[in-house]
Amino acid sequence: MTAGAEHGGVAGPLKIMAVVGARPNMMKAAPLLRELARHADVETVLVHTGQHYDERMSEAFFRDLGLPAPDHYLGVGSGTHAAQTANVMLALEPIMIAERPDVLVVVGDVNSTLAAALVAAKLGVRIAHVEAGLRSFDRGMPEEINRVLTDAISDLLFTTERDAETNLLREGVPAERIHFVGNVMIDTLLRELPRARALGMPGRMGVAAREYAVLTLHRPSNVDDPAVLAQLLDAVDVVQSRVPVLFPVHPRTRQRLAEGSLADRLARMPALRLLEPLGYLEFLGLLADARLVLTDSGGIQEETTILGVPCLTLRENTERPVTVLEGTNEVVGTNADRIAAAAVRILDGGGKAGRRPELWDGHAAERIVAVLRTVGRRGA
Ligand code: UD1
Repeated sequence: MTAGAEHGGVAGPLKIMAVVGARPNMMKAAPLLRELARHADVETVLVHTGQHYDERMSEAFFRDLGLPAPDHYLGVGSGTHAAQTANVMLALEPIMIAERPDVLVVVGDVNSTLAAALVAAKLGVRIAHVEAGLRSFDRGMPEEINRVLTDAISDLLFTTERDAETNLLREGVPAERIHFVGNVMIDTLLRELPRARALGMPGRMGVAAREYAVLTLHRPSNVDDPAVLAQLLDAVDVVQSRVPVLFPVHPRTRQRLAEGSLADRLARMPALRLLEPLGYLEFLGLLADARLVLTDSGGIQEETTILGVPCLTLRENTERPVTVLEGTNEVVGTNADRIAAAAVRILDGGGKAGRRPELWDGHAAERIVAVLRTVGRRGA
């Protein structure tokens, strides 16, 4: 038996293992799995690490996006970064040994992404990283560590924007490993937007289209420090005095808001509406008709760019510069006055219109699968 035959067989199907773990992985994996399923020469194994496990953080997304039930569920749950990363590795290693995929496909930058890539690298399984090369240049972000390390051990690096390729080349990644393919998350958005709009979310929330703001906050640097969170709420106060602010609250943030004096502060903002985490379609339906979005998410900066909705990113940096250079995004930091001034300008009609970034056209998954089928077994 040749080495190739041991790993899925040169003549047999190309065996791909895809790993998802956290909410933002799901919409990136969905178009890839759908496209992989169209090819008889490809066999796919889906692993869900269970990094996110609440119904609203995980199953709701599988359901909304039509993802197949995972072949393996690792159930790792929450923990410190080391515990979560290590638990994914310990649970995944025996499965990867048993399944012997030709290629591991990982998406994004969460702890499950890095953990899975590390397991594959040590087992000699080729790694494809989707959404490679994004850099905030802020090593204080856990995701930045995950991005840098995953890219360093990946064999195939699929990028969403031109800057990502520049970053990878600077880090010494050989050019032939890098493939600029566009954005799989936007594949999902463009496919699902009609269904999301059909939900009539603004009406269901009792707000008028283009007459409300959407807020999301979950980054540890924003929500774990009460002083920073208080600044952000000061800015939100100004926005909610102008338009209703719909705020689906991440579990991490809900814990923080329940602590200390912040609960009183929230009670004094009548037009700030705290919601449970929303499903993919519900949230997209709300984003699509918002007048303004305030967020510290990475993906939402990209989604608002495609939707043409002005976005204020409540961070000091972005790893997605194309959303600022070409899209509707503005990076405004965490100072209350600066955020409020930008928000008021947008509410007064001064938001960016933006344009669609190159290759964000709904066909990224097709390009990725074409590359995987061509070079999946041999060197890139
Ligand atoms: C993770 C990702 C982040 C991504 C975010 C999207 C890392 C390092 N971070 O952050 O990049 O933007 O997901 O949501 O991988 N919790 C629940 N239920 C769940 C999941 C989490 O209650 O289903 C709570 C737990 O208290 C947990 C906390 O949220 O400790 C944080 O979860 P975790 O997966 O560690 O990180 P996120 O903040 O969600």
